[in-house]
Amino acid sequence: MLSFATRFTVRTAARLAALVALAGAALLPFGAAAASAAAAASAAATPNDTKPVYSDAAALGKLMFFDASLSASGKMSCASCHSPSHAYGPPNGLAAQLGGPDMRSQGTRAVPSLRYVLNRTPMWSHAQAASMSERLSETDNAPVGGFGWDGRFNRLQDQASFPLFNPDEMANKDPAAMLAKLEHAPYAARFKEVFGQNIFLDPTKAFAQAMYAIERFELEDPSFHPYTSKFDYYLDGKLQLTDQELRGKKLFDNPTGGNCASCHIDQSGADGSHPLFTDFNFQALGVPRNPELRANADPKYFDMGLCGPLRTDQSSDRSNCGLFKSVSLRNTATRHVFFHNGRFHTLKDALRFYVQRDTNPAKWYPKDAHGKVDKFDDLPVALRVNVDTTDEPLTRKTGERPVWSERDIDDVAAFLATLNDDYVLKPKQSK
Ligand code: HEC
Ligand code: HEC
Repeated sequence: MLSFATRFTVRTAARLAALVALAGAALLPFGAAAASAAAAASAAATPNDTKPVYSDAAALGKLMFFDASLSASGKMSCASCHSPSHAYGPPNGLAAQLGGPDMRSQGTRAVPSLRYVLNRTPMWSHAQAASMSERLSETDNAPVGGFGWDGRFNRLQDQASFPLFNPDEMANKDPAAMLAKLEHAPYAARFKEVFGQNIFLDPTKAFAQAMYAIERFELEDPSFHPYTSKFDYYLDGKLQLTDQELRGKKLFDNPTGGNCASCHIDQSGADGSHPLFTDFNFQALGVPRNPELRANADPKYFDMGLCGPLRTDQSSDRSNCGLFKSVSLRNTATRHVFFHNGRFHTLKDALRFYVQRDTNPAKWYPKDAHGKVDKFDDLPVALRVNVDTTDEPLTRKTGERPVWSERDIDDVAAFLATLNDDYVLKPKQSK
């Protein structure tokens, strides 16, 4: 795909610059070709892949997903944060949700939508180059895949245990505490029928089966990938987009303008599968620090995505700091909270940030003690070099004209709204 090639070349330049800057640091990784091919393959989804079989495990997993009794507070289920009527995203505009035993602890990240990505997210990979010549000849080294904003989980069954024990979320003390609740759930008898009458006598196995059940629900339930947006019907030739929506799409695609589609892929796959609007790659966008997050009251605290603090296995490569996974833009127009730290609360502000970050940084970042605009203030000063300044539209200088006007932003927002599910085809539109 041409857009991939262009972007990766640009990115390589950035990485090589970073390599010089960090002389002596860990080897730069390679493997872009494989990673991008994998991402492109998985970014393209099959519209009609609803599975005829809904396993017993999936049915149990569904009950668990909606069961608030599995939390320490008794008030929080997976669905409290991943609301099915909000594309399995947050039901409100909070930067991070409140949970914990008394429902008063605040998490540190915005809730992502679970739509479309669960069965398409590639395994985490960040292959390392074997030699310097390989490092210099490879076209890119972009990390890709994995679940979470930092890609730290490869399997949904591993991811599911994180919220169950996170003290800010469902806050169970340990697996035994969670299993004690599961054993008293109204569906406990069914759990035993499916996984064995003696299953609760083996806590390790019982917990593993419970996590497996949640994973099966997440993979099998068609409500995670309905493909009922106006854009899907447009791709199927069932309707036309309005002039404004088409203008928005052009602005979104233009590689020398918005350039959004280079990361948020909007082309169908070769097999006709509909696009997911993400490439599952990681990028540091320099989203401003969000004072709404309580953790940020500590000036020494930084959420640096790939390099921690939640993820711990990639911290030694400092060029990973500040990188977060690109997310699907399907249903993004229904959200009230944007980016990993929930810094923005309207889609248009998120769009304005992209095109005005560099042309008018004073609008987005606070001033430091010397009255200077503290650009990229959500990263320690030494790591701000990691922020993307090579991919359009993030290349401009202060005072230059933004690539988009307010009218352009309206048009792109109109286009993105065509990605909302549950579009109702009018009778004369469907043919
Ligand atoms: C208190 C709110 C909250 C609850 C409850 C919650 N989640 Fe999440 N979920 C989040 C947040 C925040 C993230 C992003 C986490 C990160 O990047 O570390 C997330 C991420 C995820 C992801 C990764 C999505 C992706 O695209 O990478 C999955 C899958 C998921 N949650 C499933 C679940 C399941 C299953 C449960 C119940 C067992 C659950 N969540 C309960 C807030 C919540
Ligand atoms: C270089 C890759 C790249 C480009 C180009 C890019 N994005 Fe993103 N986008 C990302 C990444 C990575 C994130 C998550 C970053 C984070 O939260 O720190 C993101 C997040 C977003 C979000 C927030 C979604 C949510 O649910 O929180 C929106 C909206 C968005 N992008 C729209 C756009 C638009 C519009 C453009 C074009 C102007 C664009 N992006 C260009 C990589 C990119």
